[in-house]
Amino acid sequence: MKFFIRTYGCQMNERDSEAAAALLRQHGHEQVLNEADADVIIVNTCSVRSKAEAKALGKLGILASERRPGRLIGVMGCMAQRLGADVFEKVPGINFVIGTGSLGLLPRAVETAAGGGGPFVDVGDLLNGSVCTSAHVYDNQQAKAFVNVLFGCDRRCSYCVVPFVRGRERSRPAEEILAEVLDLAQHGVREITLLGQSVLSYGRKGNVWSPDHVSPRGLTEPFPKLLEAVAAVPGIRRVRFTSAHPSGCTPELARVFATVEQICEHVHLPLQSGSDRILKMMRRGYTVDDYRRAVERLRQAVPTMAFTTDIIVGFPTETEEDFEATRAIVEEIGFDNAFVFKYSPRPGTLAAEWKDDVPPSEKLKRNKILLEDLDRIAMKRHQQKRIGSIQEVMADGFSPRNRKMWSGRTRDFMTVVFEPPAGARPGDFLNILIRRATPQTLYGEVRP
Ligand code: SAH
Ligand code: SF4
Ligand code: F3S
Repeated sequence: MKFFIRTYGCQMNERDSEAAAALLRQHGHEQVLNEADADVIIVNTCSVRSKAEAKALGKLGILASERRPGRLIGVMGCMAQRLGADVFEKVPGINFVIGTGSLGLLPRAVETAAGGGGPFVDVGDLLNGSVCTSAHVYDNQQAKAFVNVLFGCDRRCSYCVVPFVRGRERSRPAEEILAEVLDLAQHGVREITLLGQSVLSYGRKGNVWSPDHVSPRGLTEPFPKLLEAVAAVPGIRRVRFTSAHPSGCTPELARVFATVEQICEHVHLPLQSGSDRILKMMRRGYTVDDYRRAVERLRQAVPTMAFTTDIIVGFPTETEEDFEATRAIVEEIGFDNAFVFKYSPRPGTLAAEWKDDVPPSEKLKRNKILLEDLDRIAMKRHQQKRIGSIQEVMADGFSPRNRKMWSGRTRDFMTVVFEPPAGARPGDFLNILIRRATPQTLYGEVRP
């Protein structure tokens, strides 16, 4: 059958969609790039805010209302995990629902539905995690790849649904990860992004390294050791990871950043709030000062380090004063980019039991103020350290906004738009002189 996958949510979902596609291809199905050509459409969903669910449900509703005879509609991902069979009630006409831990059952779900059986639902075994074998996942010549290193999350921040839809934290054995990276590198991958919700927790709860492994730098912590080993795989030129947490920004992490060339100087370090009282209610496990020290430690190791972050505005009881504290630390750190989210109560979480007492108009206002601050801060940083400099850019291909131009990323994760040189290919490393900037994009010219 011809299948099409539509993906919402974070990089974990993007990675799962790739794995799902590979699995279906192995079972003889054909992936199509146009939704209209598909006999089976799978929507990979996110649950993190109510808007994310509304988007997926809206999309499913439209698909179901088209009533194309013989076409199947399936749901996977975090909302599928959370709602299970309730999806069938919310959107009549759905053929199967596959939870985050049941990805391996996708071919069976498709075959059952195609044979007229169903509806098929499996949200059973969160602990088994997703399928993550990878060689054939990247048979389409990508230069970049995501690699799962840690599934689930045990932090249980009070607002967050992720632990409920992705299960307990499980780290993959380092050898398995390294074998995957080697395989990817041999298939032409040059940039690896290691994925985990709180990825610096990797290996803290069990044996991920064999006792025979010796770190060339004498590192002892599991995640810094992993970074060092991934960077040493022949062919890998860039290593990234997401998301970080201040508790993992240790002296060893700083040391690998300072000494391993392939590790790119960018950290996505979610802040969430600049008020200690709110951070405590969020159960984030750090204070503003801990956060500040984490940033300082990494900047001492690599002075050009770029930081990006996530911030929630309008958390229950957030006052004007709390919000001003967030603005102050945002200014102080000097983020290069940030996502700002309006607090959204999620069923089953601790915070959902508290009154969502910041009115929507106030959330909107705080969101807007913070975005303006962030744009101004980013522009200042571009002027200070980027405009006029030559940056190494890994080309991604056509710029989504202007098909005559290409875009790519600097080592510090800024998007650069440029005119491609003759014969350029995605994955090429180019030197680009940065001429100008908008808050989220740099523009430049390729230099020899
Ligand atoms: N594991 C990552 C975050 C994953 S969710 C981390 O903690 O580092 C991505 C972002 O969504 C979070 O950082 C947070 O800013 C936001 N988010 C999560 N739950 C939310 C909610 N209930 N309302 C609004 N934003 C939320
Ligand atoms: Fe959610 Fe917190 Fe885990 Fe991130 S660290 S996924 S915000 S519970
Ligand atoms: Fe969304 Fe699931 Fe990621 S809830 S943010 S897709 S882990």
